Amino acid sequence: MTAELRPARATDLGAVIAIERAAYPEDAWSEDAMASQLENPNTRYLVAEEGGVIVGYAGLLAPVGAETAEVHTVTVTETHRRRGIGRRMLAELLEAAAARGAAEVFLEVRIDNPAAQDLYRSLGFEAVGVRRKYYQPEGVDALVMRAPVPERGER
Ligand SMILES: CC(C)(COP(=O)(O)OP(=O)(O)OC[C@H]1O[C@@H](n2cnc3c(N)ncnc32)[C@H](O)[C@@H]1OP(=O)(O)O)[C@@H](O)C(=O)NCCC(=O)NCCS
Repeated sequence: MTAELRPARATDLGAVIAIERAAYPEDAWSEDAMASQLENPNTRYLVAEEGGVIVGYAGLLAPVGAETAEVHTVTVTETHRRRGIGRRMLAELLEAAAARGAAEVFLEVRIDNPAAQDLYRSLGFEAVGVRRKYYQPEGVDALVMRAPVPERGER
């Protein structure tokens, strides 16, 4: 079965938070924080749905008119990883960044998460810096990565 990607809705909140808590036991976003991101017109959140079940989500902050966009998260439920869902969601977020006029997209990723770093590199992200002790409460460093957004017509 292939997961379908669609814009996240407010009614997806429960499923998204369940995946969030399982994937990030130390520093999951609160339900309120996630709800406000899903409602924010400056964000673009997607879910991957398979057989009526949400199996992943991804989110981007990209205000129209801002040159820089930021990937907030790409998360796939454990049973559905390594099937291309993360890459498809991230590619769609990059399309959304381009559609909103961003010239570049940034993200932070844990320094101890090579799988996610490989995913990001596969879509054009490069490391541009380190934010020390960015992930709290553990105090794990973040790698800051950047990808240029091709102008329309270049792709
Ligand atoms: C990181 C994550 C989103 C990847 O999602 P996914 O759907 O499994 O990824 P894909 O199947 O699209 O894989 C894309 C590429 O990422 C890399 N990758 C993904 N999982 C990997 C793993 N376990 N080990 C090594 N590389 C991995 C590979 O380069 C892969 O390409 P390939 O399959 O052609 O080799 C998923 O593992 C996840 O949700 N992890 C927990 C949460 C997290 O760390 N999120 C990212 C930080 S915000």
